[in-house]
Amino acid sequence: MAKGTASAVASPNIALIKYWGNRDHELRLPSNGSISLTLGGLETRTTVSFDETLPSDRLTVDGSPPTNSALVRVSEHLDRIRHLAGIHTPAQVESRNNFPAGVGVASSASAFAALTLAGTAAADLSLNPKELSRLARLGSGSACRSIFGGYVEWYAGETHADSHAEPLAPPEHWDLIDLIAVISREHKGIGSTQGHTLADTSLLQSARVTDTPRRLNICREALLHCDFPTLASIVEQDSNLMHAVMFTSTPALIYWAPTTIELMQAVTTWRAEGLEVCYTIDAGPNVHCLCTKQHADQVEERLGHLPGVIDLLRAHPGGPASVI
Ligand code: DP6
Repeated sequence: MAKGTASAVASPNIALIKYWGNRDHELRLPSNGSISLTLGGLETRTTVSFDETLPSDRLTVDGSPPTNSALVRVSEHLDRIRHLAGIHTPAQVESRNNFPAGVGVASSASAFAALTLAGTAAADLSLNPKELSRLARLGSGSACRSIFGGYVEWYAGETHADSHAEPLAPPEHWDLIDLIAVISREHKGIGSTQGHTLADTSLLQSARVTDTPRRLNICREALLHCDFPTLASIVEQDSNLMHAVMFTSTPALIYWAPTTIELMQAVTTWRAEGLEVCYTIDAGPNVHCLCTKQHADQVEERLGHLPGVIDLLRAHPGGPASVI
């Protein structure tokens, strides 16, 4: 192939039931299944151009060259695509996010979902959504969920073939809003990939993993019935369980800042007062406040008044990744 170019767009996602720990790190076969909401309004746009005149793969993120490790990770993903297509051509990859980096939004999910779609289209491969989800998973676990829109479940599976995501409900099923309270823009010391390798050092991880089918069932049912109080309680419990594993790993992973805890307390107080809102926190200090559309403006207003909140992003249920 001389040249093949394609562009794709994908949104990040917020896990309602979290992926933490792998049974196979190389294949990113997760220790437990997970459920997420694709975050519309936030997106990564990526263009892949295979070009025989290039000496090696090139990458820019938001117009700048990335770290070496990011280029290696992208090159490894391009190798997977080249292997499927039977080509050896280097590629130029340009990726842009419409949301700031390091705000507690998993940009690796949208990045690898968009790269998977753009890369396979540029290589003239035709994969179905399940195959795209599996391939995206090899680049970043949570990316397998960003292939789909709306409410999504990642079935952990036992082999590469059966570990992929599937849609649970379309975006229009339930108008939940994710208000992301940014309290720090500093890059985390230990990223998710390294964090997953520490999960099994915590005594609590096996209890968390064994209990996951129960949490998945409760979350799935609450989503399907648009039952906010049940969803709120299981989403907060699941986030707290993951952070309990993080706290008790060796070395301990403590992602929370003092403001993180203040926000968790504020959100639970507001819910007791009647606002439909709950919190969930990924591998960073920033707090995702999930709320019903009806209460989103009130929650946004209250978050805006809290000292320590330096930025607020608003996302709604988004669509699937697509070639553009
Ligand atoms: C806490 O998908 O970022 O956000 O597979 O190494 O890229 P890699 O990890 P990643 O892990 C996400 C962890 C989480 C929870 C979740 O999104 O389920």
